Amino acid sequence: MDDEAIFELELELLLEALYRRYQYDFRHYSRAFLQRRLVQALATLECATLSQLQERLLREPRLLPRVLEAITVPTTELFRDPGYFRVLRQEVVPLLRTYPSLKVWVAGCSTGEEVWSLAILLKEEGLHDKAIIYATDIIQSRLQKAKRGIYRSGAMRAASRSYRDAGGKGSLSDYYSAAYDAVRLDPSLVSNVVFSDHNLATDAVFAEVHLVSCRNVLIYFDRKLQDRAIGLFRDSLVRLGFLGLGSKETINFSRHKEDFDVVSQEERVYRRR
Ligand SMILES: C[S@@+](CC[C@H](N)C(=O)[O-])C[C@H]1O[C@@H](n2cnc3c(N)ncnc32)[C@H](O)[C@@H]1O
Repeated sequence: MDDEAIFELELELLLEALYRRYQYDFRHYSRAFLQRRLVQALATLECATLSQLQERLLREPRLLPRVLEAITVPTTELFRDPGYFRVLRQEVVPLLRTYPSLKVWVAGCSTGEEVWSLAILLKEEGLHDKAIIYATDIIQSRLQKAKRGIYRSGAMRAASRSYRDAGGKGSLSDYYSAAYDAVRLDPSLVSNVVFSDHNLATDAVFAEVHLVSCRNVLIYFDRKLQDRAIGLFRDSLVRLGFLGLGSKETINFSRHKEDFDVVSQEERVYRRR
């Protein structure tokens, strides 16, 4: 057995340990991705091998949050991919308007920028007051940050540009106050947001919603887990409800493909049949 094969075996055993000890299931994440993340994690967690990491993880529960954070990618930004939000405004909002009340699920919300962006969009479109947003992720520290809505002021210049490109109707600065090197978004924007833990790999559907926005999460999953997640979205959407994915994600290879129509191929927006 060469070093590479040993690493793969250790990886398999580590994922099994993580699942059996803590019920976090990463067994169907993309292997190439996990390998890259875990090589980096070994350095940060000061372990020489994955076997060493496994041993510590089994005996030291306090290591778990650090391992989960190391494995998963937090990258996000306000109005990321403005074209996506433009399609929501132009193609989806007019249909969402027809419902007396509205439920939106942002799955894999990370530190919340996507949630706040959607809250701003719903506010500008006059839908905020009748909406409830469920914002979910598996990492507690990210959910807490998402709830606070405090971000680096340095990120605001690019965010303002994206907000405008996304069809924003005012100025992004209308929605935050600045202090030192941070900005605080207006807390009333998330008065209707429920932040909670939900795992797309192991948990079930928890609500019936009109829009699911799950962006840049499925790219880390293998085909089987992507299918599971897309099945969950299908089951939680009302008939004719909408699904938005990330720019590198698609339902084209999913066994649930036939359950959706395409609203925008470019911006990966679909509608449940
Ligand atoms: C790259 S971020 C995407 C953030 C945001 N949706 C965006 O597109 O800007 C991916 C997020 O998915 C979360 N995630 C990873 N696996 C998950 C799972 N099984 N269930 C729910 N969320 C998961 C990660 O914790 C991370 O916060």
